[in-house]
Amino acid sequence: MNKNTSLFVIFAVSLMLGLSSCGSKSTANKMDNFVDSLMAQMTIEEKLGQLNLPVTGDIVTGQAQSSDIAGAIRAGRVGGLFNLKGSEAIREIQRIAVEESRLGIPLVFGMDVIHGYETVFPIPLAIACTWDEQAVEMVGRISALEATADGICWTFSPMVDICCDARWGRIAESFGEDPYLVSTLAKAMVKGYQQTDLSDTTSMMACVKHFALYGAPEGGRDYNNVELSRYRMYNDYLPPYRATVEAGVGSVMASFNTVEGVPATCNSWLLTDLLRNDWGFKGFVVSDYTAIAEMLNHGVAADLREAAELSLKAGLDMDMVSHGLLLLQDDPKLVEYVNQACRRILVAKHQLGLFENPYRYCNSERRQKDILTQSNRDDARRVARESFVLLKNEKNTLPLKKQSTIALIGPLANTRANMSGTWAVAAVSDKYKTLKEGLEDAVKGKGKVLYAKGCNLTYDPVLEAHATMFGREMRDNRSVQALRDEALRIARQADVIVAAMGESSEFSGECASRTDLTMPDAQADLLKELKETGKPIVLLNFSGRPVILNWEAENLPAILQVWFGGSETADAVADVIFGDYTPSGKLAVAFPRSVGQLPMTYRHYNTGRPLPEGEDKFHKFVSCYMDCPNSPLYPFGFGLTYTQLDYGTLALNQNTLSKANKEVKATIEVKNTGKYDADEIVQLYIRDVVCNPVRPIAELRSWQKIHLAAGESKTVEFTITPDMLGFYTADGLWTVPTGEYHIMVGANSRDLQKLALQYEE
Ligand code: NOJ
Repeated sequence: MNKNTSLFVIFAVSLMLGLSSCGSKSTANKMDNFVDSLMAQMTIEEKLGQLNLPVTGDIVTGQAQSSDIAGAIRAGRVGGLFNLKGSEAIREIQRIAVEESRLGIPLVFGMDVIHGYETVFPIPLAIACTWDEQAVEMVGRISALEATADGICWTFSPMVDICCDARWGRIAESFGEDPYLVSTLAKAMVKGYQQTDLSDTTSMMACVKHFALYGAPEGGRDYNNVELSRYRMYNDYLPPYRATVEAGVGSVMASFNTVEGVPATCNSWLLTDLLRNDWGFKGFVVSDYTAIAEMLNHGVAADLREAAELSLKAGLDMDMVSHGLLLLQDDPKLVEYVNQACRRILVAKHQLGLFENPYRYCNSERRQKDILTQSNRDDARRVARESFVLLKNEKNTLPLKKQSTIALIGPLANTRANMSGTWAVAAVSDKYKTLKEGLEDAVKGKGKVLYAKGCNLTYDPVLEAHATMFGREMRDNRSVQALRDEALRIARQADVIVAAMGESSEFSGECASRTDLTMPDAQADLLKELKETGKPIVLLNFSGRPVILNWEAENLPAILQVWFGGSETADAVADVIFGDYTPSGKLAVAFPRSVGQLPMTYRHYNTGRPLPEGEDKFHKFVSCYMDCPNSPLYPFGFGLTYTQLDYGTLALNQNTLSKANKEVKATIEVKNTGKYDADEIVQLYIRDVVCNPVRPIAELRSWQKIHLAAGESKTVEFTITPDMLGFYTADGLWTVPTGEYHIMVGANSRDLQKLALQYEE
């Protein structure tokens, strides 16, 4: 019997064995029978092969036959591959696995589909500023539709690492600082990727990462150690991972960092006690890139074999790139662990339908019709404009008239490759517009766009090279003066200056930690010169993180934070700056005034010496800075619109919540008294006033995004239930203490109305 026949027989027998049961139990039985029979045929080497996830490198169709990886696949030493783009190449490699390996077990193909595939959505931090669960689910859905049309059935997303430290470049890939916001959006993302059924050919298995706490590295330096108490972990950092497990995420990626001195990759408390025993996770855990090998640098293992053994025993199932688990074939004490990990991976492959048809994600018709469609691009444009945050708009500088003469200036104004933002592996930048093209299209026949680059990203070519890797280079070799003169010349001819400045896409992202978050030198100097022209300046701030905008906030009339808006950035920016769409985004992370404040979050715990309420100036012997206010420049939840939104008075229908009356309603009226239709994100925060252990001064517990036509008003009603009052003890137990709570509602985490609520038994 050849391998295809034998796999088919196993598949058929397992189907028959499952016939006696019914419903989903029957499906589970069939799957178990299938996996049992298959594993009974596998050698220990083949089982370990399933745990091996090498990177594909530059395999392309044709080369696959002769590459080293092809040999390993034939020998049954590969379980999956990742970041290989193109269903043709994937089909060819899958063919080697299915037709040329002894048992013909199909490979799983993964990719970092982080914020879209060829249709690129804004970076995750920007997506989070929409506070729009449906939009986030749609991002997941369209990403899955496109990626599964091109051979990919597994994505390394969502990333749910809470981050309160803008120095860390990977904050760009996160949903921000708040565990409730991140949990809610992450669940929606998983739902979008996986739908209700992984075996649907348009579903893609999600992988929540990086488990755990990766977003809290000391000093904001990537890959660095993390030090947190269990109390902080349970309440401030772990909830989003748990939320995705509850949402049925298929896989988990262990993080690079240590947790309590033990690398997450071999941390059995994280990978087994918490993830599986407490939270009931049933899928498989993959390491991060070479993380098993990196355990030698951590100093936790003397050699790769030992590192692999520690990881496997701790609950890690799949090894990304280290080739360490392959070394564990000769220890009978490990067989049980190997079986367990192998089973989890085969189960995932079964759930994805790969045994039924290994080529089900390589459908050339779908490749043609599902990817980068106009409808997907329209959706991406909508999400992008929803993600922009208007930080300042003095004297209604925005929106601009299309009839104007606009001087578009800055290093981000005419660069195609930088629009998608970091970690857009499948992007096809040449098919996206530059900002210049987007604005020109928008004003066609009405106004004029004059363009000058004005300056490089920074004076330092070495720093600029680091910040524009992977084909995003944009350096101009003209002199500083020549670039500047050109910009000043066009600025003087214009009605308004639109400055497209800030970070390039690789200034944030992986291994892009920064210690200085102010506007890079060359751009800061140019902005000062442009201000001297006396023309109004609209700053479109591109960045993958919160940056420091003190000078800009004081000196420029309008600032729109545009992050990196994905493939449709250009049109989305035009929609907003010309008023076809009123900005509605609210910050998912605060913008600090100084790097010295980091890490910072509105969800902080009070000290014994807090500043007096409402004050933000230095007081001796009080917890504050001598040279900077405590508050951020722009708080969490902040964002302006073009219209005027007036909040009425907060009311509670009763002042006591008890187990008997179960819920209290909080209501507030919001009125649009301005000229533009707008969306508003009304936020509800809660504080437990007296509690041991102490609780944060405010925690987001609910929000509502409402639409208000000009002149319209709506009463927003929140239902407060006891579960919104609780927290985890340092032992991980959920508790809801009785006593006094503050219910706070408003437009952002700073501007809140407050009422007291009593919670009784
Ligand atoms: C390393 C990153 O930390 C992780 O997020 C990513 O999924 C892997 N590389 C694979 O590309």
